[in-house]
Amino acid sequence: KDSHWVDRRGRPLRDLRISVTDRCNFRCRYCMPKEKFEKDHSFLAHTELLTFEELERVAKIFIKNGVEKIRLTGGEPLLRKGIENLVAKLSSLKTWNGKNLDVAITTNGSALAKKAKALADAGLKRITVSLDSMDPDVFMKLNDVGFPLEKVLEGIKAAEEAGIPSIKINVVVKKSVNDDKLLDIVKYFKGTKVIVRFIEFMDVGATNGWRMDDVIPSKAIVEQINKVYPVEPLDPNYTGEVATRWRFKDDGREIGFISSVSEPFCKECSRMRLSVDGKIYNCLFATTGFDIRQMLRGGATDEEIEEAIGRIWSAREDHYSEIRTSETVKERQKNKIEMSYIGG
Ligand code: GTP
Ligand code: 5AD
Ligand code: SF4
Ligand code: SF4
Repeated sequence: KDSHWVDRRGRPLRDLRISVTDRCNFRCRYCMPKEKFEKDHSFLAHTELLTFEELERVAKIFIKNGVEKIRLTGGEPLLRKGIENLVAKLSSLKTWNGKNLDVAITTNGSALAKKAKALADAGLKRITVSLDSMDPDVFMKLNDVGFPLEKVLEGIKAAEEAGIPSIKINVVVKKSVNDDKLLDIVKYFKGTKVIVRFIEFMDVGATNGWRMDDVIPSKAIVEQINKVYPVEPLDPNYTGEVATRWRFKDDGREIGFISSVSEPFCKECSRMRLSVDGKIYNCLFATTGFDIRQMLRGGATDEEIEEAIGRIWSAREDHYSEIRTSETVKERQKNKIEMSYIGG
C-alpha cells in the first residue's frame, strides 16, 4: 500500500501548488509592485525552471504519496509556453485511490480568451480567475499596466463557452482600494455558475507593504452582501477547504470567503508548494525551501526524492497564520518568499 506522510501536527499531504513561471504581465501592487519588479529584479532563466517532464515526474511522486489535487500558479501560469500540454499530462494521472487527479489553475485571466479552448481540450476542470474590481478604471490601476477589464471578462466568458466545469473568481479585498464596490462583482456574476470568493489581504512576500489596518474581515463583507442578497452558511466540501462557503437564499448558488487573517485555517493545512525553480516549501510564509531540482538533475532516483520530500513534510510544524502578530510580520518581512515566486 502507498505510504502517506503526516506532519508534526497530524496533517496529511493532500494538495500541491506548483508555480510554473515567476513572470507576470500584471504589476498588482500587492504582489509585484513596479518599483521593485521593473529594474532591480531579475527573473529566472528558462533553464532554471523545472521542465514539464520534471514536473510530471515530481507530480507522480507526490500523487503516489497521497496528493489528490494539483494547482498550477505563477506568476501568471498561462504565460508558460505550452501550459495546456502540462495540463493534459497531469489531467490523465490517477490518484492513490484511483480517482482522476484534480487539476486546477489560478490565473489573472489576461490570456484566457486565447487559451480557454486549449485548456478545456486538455481536460482542465477547474479554473480560478483573479479579478479585484468591476470598475474599468480601478481595474486598470490595480494591474498597473493598463490592462483592460473587458478582456478579462471576455476570458471568463470564453472559459464558460469552452465548457470548463468550475469557474471561480478571486477578489483580494484591500481597504480604500476596492472595498467600496464589492457588490458590483457579486451582481455581475449573480445567477451564473461562476463562484465569487473574497480574500482577506495577506502579508505575503517582502514587498507588499501589508498592514493589519488594510484588512477588511470577511465577516464585514458577508454582512454587506447579506443586506442586498441574503445568504446562509454552507458546510465545507472537504476538511481543510480554504474558503468558507455561503449560498444565496434565493437561488442557492454559492459564494466564498477566504479569511486567513481573521480566521486562519492552518489546523487542516495539507498544502505543499513547489516553486518555479524546484524548491519545496511547507508554508506560504516560509523563509526557506528545499531544492529538489538538484536531485532531479543530479541523477537521484524516485525513491530518493520521495524520501527527501517525506522527511521534509514529516518535520513540518508551520502554522504561520495562527501566530501572525505585528511582531512576526516585521520579523519575517525581509526573508519571506514572494507570491509571484511561490504562487499564493
Ligand atoms: P480551491 O481548490 O478552489 O479550494 O482553491 P484555493 O482556494 O485553495 O486556491 P486559490 O489559488 O484560488 O487561492 C485562494 C486564496 O487563498 C489566495 O489568496 C491564496 O494565496 C490563498 N491560499 C491558498 N492556500 C493557502 C494557504 O495554505 N495558506 C494561506 N494563508 N493562504 C492560502
Ligand atoms: N493577499 C491575499 N491574496 C493574494 N493574492 C495575491 N496577493 C495576495 C495577498 N497579498 C491572490 C491573487 C490570486 C491568488 C493566488 O492569490 O489574487 O488570486
Ligand atoms: Fe500577476 Fe497575479 Fe501577482 Fe497580479 S497577483 S502581479 S496577476 S501574479
Ligand atoms: Fe498552511 Fe502556512 Fe497558510 Fe497556515 S499559513 S494555512 S500553514 S500555508
